[in-house]
Amino acid sequence: MGGYLEDMGPYWTNRFRKEARIWGDTPSNTAYQALELFQRLGFHDVLVPGSGYGRNTRLFSSAGFNVTGVEISDEAGSLADGYDPSTKVRCGSVLDVAFEDASFDAVYCFNVLHLFRESERTLLVDKCYRELRVNGICFFVVFSEQEESRGRGEEVEENTFESKPGRPVHYFSGGDLRHHFKRFEVLDDGLVDDPEDHGDSGPHIHRLRYIACRKAAVRTCADCADYSCSALDEILRVAPGAKANLDGLTSN
Ligand SMILES: C[S@@+](CC[C@H](N)C(=O)[O-])C[C@H]1O[C@@H](n2cnc3c(N)ncnc32)[C@H](O)[C@@H]1O
Ligand SMILES: [Zn+2]
Repeated sequence: MGGYLEDMGPYWTNRFRKEARIWGDTPSNTAYQALELFQRLGFHDVLVPGSGYGRNTRLFSSAGFNVTGVEISDEAGSLADGYDPSTKVRCGSVLDVAFEDASFDAVYCFNVLHLFRESERTLLVDKCYRELRVNGICFFVVFSEQEESRGRGEEVEENTFESKPGRPVHYFSGGDLRHHFKRFEVLDDGLVDDPEDHGDSGPHIHRLRYIACRKAAVRTCADCADYSCSALDEILRVAPGAKANLDGLTSN
């Protein structure tokens, strides 16, 4: 079941060799959204799992953030060395490359989480939780259930399709994405259109979901020590699309 993990490096290296800077030089619209939030909070240290050749890391590093990328493809790593030399890229899987607990103020992760099956998605989110400081922010962007490719290939898990054998893609509903981040306090989430122009597809628009959420100081329910219990949900005010929370945020 986890066999697909070994294919991820070769698959992406092959793509980066053929297509180099696949998505061009423009950062995702969501990277600007995250940048604005991280600046407002006075953050310094940003982790970018699945950083590719650096089109998003470069936005953060050129704004003065101390950026660390993690990349499974050595080809993408070499491209990033030239494209965004200020970002430190660690080579390896986002599931394996470990950092000290509480090393980062923020995690920005674009179109990576949906490449994993359920157990590995949980591992990745848990790892980000550990590596974030208290009050740190996770900003994740993923394929939504409204992506036009949804439904292509075999459904190997709920809402996870393999249009190519061994290459799963998970399509997130809003509730599903919030469920993945249930340990966090959700600040904002929703659908976002992201235009791209690459390969045979030509210009097209991805219908993505984003979530911005905070690692709150309370980690576990005092009564049962279980972070997923419903009492804890209440403590963390897990609220769909709670945009009001975002407006009240300032650095401290
Ligand atoms: C869809 S691309 C997005 C790249 C980058 N976030 C961007 O927006 O330009 C997915 C990226 O995740 C990387 N990746 C895939 N599986 C990975 C893993 N297990 N560990 C680290 N990186 C991975 C790929 O090499 C690729 O760069
Ligand atoms: Zn695309």
